[in-house]
Amino acid sequence: MKEQLEAIRTATKQALSSCTDAKQLDQLRVQYLGKKGELTAILKQMGKLSAQERPAMGQLANQVRTDLEQALAEKQHALSERMLQHKLEAEAVDVTLPGTAQRQGSMHPLHIVEQEIREIFLGMGFSVADGPEVEYDYYNFEALNLPPDHPARDTQDTFYITDDILLRTQTSSVQVHVMETQKPPIRVISPGRVYRSDTVDATHSPLFHQIEGLVVDKGVTMADLKGTLKLLMQRLYGDDCKIRLRPHHFPFTEPSAEVDVMCFQCHGEGCRMCKGEGYIELLGAGMVHPKVLEGCGIDSSVYSGFAFGLGLERIAMRHYQIGDMRLLFENDTRFLEQF
Ligand code: DAH
Repeated sequence: MKEQLEAIRTATKQALSSCTDAKQLDQLRVQYLGKKGELTAILKQMGKLSAQERPAMGQLANQVRTDLEQALAEKQHALSERMLQHKLEAEAVDVTLPGTAQRQGSMHPLHIVEQEIREIFLGMGFSVADGPEVEYDYYNFEALNLPPDHPARDTQDTFYITDDILLRTQTSSVQVHVMETQKPPIRVISPGRVYRSDTVDATHSPLFHQIEGLVVDKGVTMADLKGTLKLLMQRLYGDDCKIRLRPHHFPFTEPSAEVDVMCFQCHGEGCRMCKGEGYIELLGAGMVHPKVLEGCGIDSSVYSGFAFGLGLERIAMRHYQIGDMRLLFENDTRFLEQF
């Protein structure tokens, strides 16, 4: 029996030394140490031994068992170490390899200009209001003192959806929403998209952008309007920038004005850019018509206000010397990446 035990010890150790994976190791464990394994088979014969032989043989058997168990455990440890090593090697990432470069986006010129103007007004204590692009005729026209048969409606070729729903032609519609829901003092701007059924060319697009401004309070005058717009233009074009108000007509303001800014190319001398004028027309403005105030539930004998609306495309095109409005909407990345 002693020889048998020693033989098992040697056989197991030999088998272990050539074992290369966990599955094989498991088979060895079953083969030698399992319930039906070779060592167990020998131990079952213990009963046939004489009482003198049994203790020594029992001790040896136990020794062999512990010895083999330890050898198996060591092998298992070594195998899992090796597997980990393999895995690490296989999954290694060379962090010194150059990465795949991401293309960097850029801001759209209209967005840049809008942000700039927005910041200037926020700095003056204005807040930003939002309004729907799909609008009721009432907000876009009627409440702005443009009743159904008003001739000025024809100047804004409107996309009608139904008889009384349309795509807003001007951000002035937001004025009405604001005055309906807020009490004076009101000081808001509202940037957004507007729509007119214009044919596309270098200076026209059926979709363009405006920024509306509205201030309503006690004692607001034309001087406040002029001061506000002058500050805006000076922030945009420099401290020496001058503005000029020309009388005009808008149904929702009285008096109304068109506001020109001194040409920043020739500084008022007259050049090709301003067509010899020295000034460039930038926006419409005026004192909010009492009818409009009253229609929104604001007492025009207590409150007065001014409003203005400017086109963003024009400003962006001047700013970046973009000769064709279509460039702003075609989304050609070669164009957009320049900003
Ligand atoms: N809504 C006008 C337009 O689209 C621009 C405008 C003029 C807005 C005068 C105003 C204003 O708020 O007071 O042509």
